[in-house]
Amino acid sequence: MSSLTNPVNWVLAAVLGYISYNYFSASAAPPPPAPRPRPLAMVFREYTPKELAEFDGRTEDTRILMAVQGKVFDVTRGRNFYGPDGPYGNFAGRDASRGLAKNSFEKSMLAPIDGPVDKLDNLDDDEKEALSDWAVHFEGKYQLVGKLIENKD
Ligand code: HEM
Repeated sequence: MSSLTNPVNWVLAAVLGYISYNYFSASAAPPPPAPRPRPLAMVFREYTPKELAEFDGRTEDTRILMAVQGKVFDVTRGRNFYGPDGPYGNFAGRDASRGLAKNSFEKSMLAPIDGPVDKLDNLDDDEKEALSDWAVHFEGKYQLVGKLIENKD
């Protein structure tokens, strides 16, 4: 029996073909995409209103921080809300407490960056409760990265 007519050789040729096809197509496959760099974790620290204002997310690669009831949260992953074109962009880099308490994103709700921290002592009970509810929302959703303190000068 010649080697071409021997069925054992056909089977061997088929197996060899299958193995070499797999070998070459695997080596031709593009390399897997590099993992996306994870954002660096932020160390918990104190922020004055002036320092906080630097984290307003004006450029794509900057963090967005926001203060609620004296706590500073990293809301960067909520860029759709707090980015320059977001509905709550006013709160980026600012103390949002009064606006959240009064359910308003008007600019007048924001204490001046170079002034004292808003004491919030003239809020009524409903507003205080609304603010506390928001604080719970932010604690559940975002990383707590700092504490709001008075400006130093
Ligand atoms: C005009 C009426 C408003 C509409 C239709 C609206 C709509 C929404 C919607 C759809 C969400 C997303 C909810 C989610 O997916 O969890 C949201 C979240 C939010 N809204 Fe409004 N909103 C309005 C008014 C306001 C006002 C006046 C404030 C001012 C304090 C406000 C502050 C917020 C905040 C802080 C969030 C949470 C964003 C986050 O989780 O980071 N909204 N709003």
